[in-house]
Amino acid sequence: MFQNKTILITGSSGFIGSNLMKRLLIEAENCTLIGFDNNNDYYDVSLKEYRLDQLSQIKTKNTYKFIKGDLADKPLLESLFRQYHFDIVVNLAAQAGVRYSITNPDAYINSNIIGFYNILEACRNHPVEHLVYASSSSVYGGNKKIPFSTDDKVDNPVSLYAATKKSNELLAHAYSKLYNIPSTGLRFFTVYGPMGRPDMAYFGFTNKLIKGETIEIFNYGNCKRDFTYIDDIVEGIVRVMEKPPIKKTGEDGLPLPPYKIYNIGNNNPENLLDFVQILSEELIRAKVLPKDFDFEAHKKLVPMQPGDVPATYADTSELEKDFEFKPSTSLRQGLRKFSEWYYDYYILGNKNNE
Ligand SMILES: NC(=O)c1ccc[n+]([C@@H]2O[C@H](COP(=O)([O-])OP(=O)(O)OC[C@H]3O[C@@H](n4cnc5c(N)ncnc54)[C@H](O)[C@@H]3O)[C@@H](O)[C@H]2O)c1
Repeated sequence: MFQNKTILITGSSGFIGSNLMKRLLIEAENCTLIGFDNNNDYYDVSLKEYRLDQLSQIKTKNTYKFIKGDLADKPLLESLFRQYHFDIVVNLAAQAGVRYSITNPDAYINSNIIGFYNILEACRNHPVEHLVYASSSSVYGGNKKIPFSTDDKVDNPVSLYAATKKSNELLAHAYSKLYNIPSTGLRFFTVYGPMGRPDMAYFGFTNKLIKGETIEIFNYGNCKRDFTYIDDIVEGIVRVMEKPPIKKTGEDGLPLPPYKIYNIGNNNPENLLDFVQILSEELIRAKVLPKDFDFEAHKKLVPMQPGDVPATYADTSELEKDFEFKPSTSLRQGLRKFSEWYYDYYILGNKNNE
């Protein structure tokens, strides 16, 4: 894997960022790996600290440093880029979540718009080999044509979150064209797994079920999601990081934008009701829920929520073509890993070992 590179991962206390950092700490060689995050309290901060703690315990052949800071702090980013001269930047820090953007729009503008602009400016002033950044399947909004392809028009976001992610792709395109910055945007499709995000449905369902509460399944269960296991996402990011879009010159003598967008999703959407059925079985298997748990009595079918979309389904042919990779972890395997981790972390309280 990577050798002698200086790599910045923003959002490194987050779900995807911490898993990516873990993989690099284990597999990269002689690299300088800088994690960056403001550790905000959008969800339980102790989970972010736990992830950082896990990272600091890994024996590594690399230099690792975590810096606590905010993407909206332009002078801080500028000084970091000046100091480290990053070869690769992976921007995963963002205000995530669709529903929260309805009540807290400012957080999305600060982190996803101003923060991302600051990253682009820093890459402009301190050229990098590759900028990789997180976009989202939510950019497809209410598109009816499935599977969702990166060739499809995505001009109809149905949440502010989706609008900020689409804006990131547009801003990155302009910076790639103007300053010849190789950039790749990754549209992730509903990522889940151990050490995941408590604000996401599968995690929230689990928290409720163990308290004996009833879970609400939106759109009367008539929802399909392309659930993607965290290790598949990390594998996809690593492969993409290694291969920036090639710089080329156009007929006008100006650089063609070295710019790419890929979907990273399972390419196999599952019905939400099937998903929660497997989740409940795996939670019972992992002893998070009792053997005789009556799942039917704890679920309620309710209407669609604002900002939600009925289906997500990733066309991953471009990813397969360019990187010979396609996510392959089954829901059963992935939810088993999640349930076992949940048991260990929350039920046994083993917050210091994985
Ligand atoms: N998890 C998914 O299903 C999913 C799907 C599509 C896209 N994404 C995108 O992938 C990226 C990573 O998602 P995640 O699931 O790991 O989310 P996460 O919330 O666990 O991680 C994001 C991290 O960014 C940090 N952060 C937020 N704003 C910041 C700021 N202004 N400055 C510094 N740090 C900041 C947070 O503290 C958090 O630790 C995000 O950009 C998200 O929008 C995630």
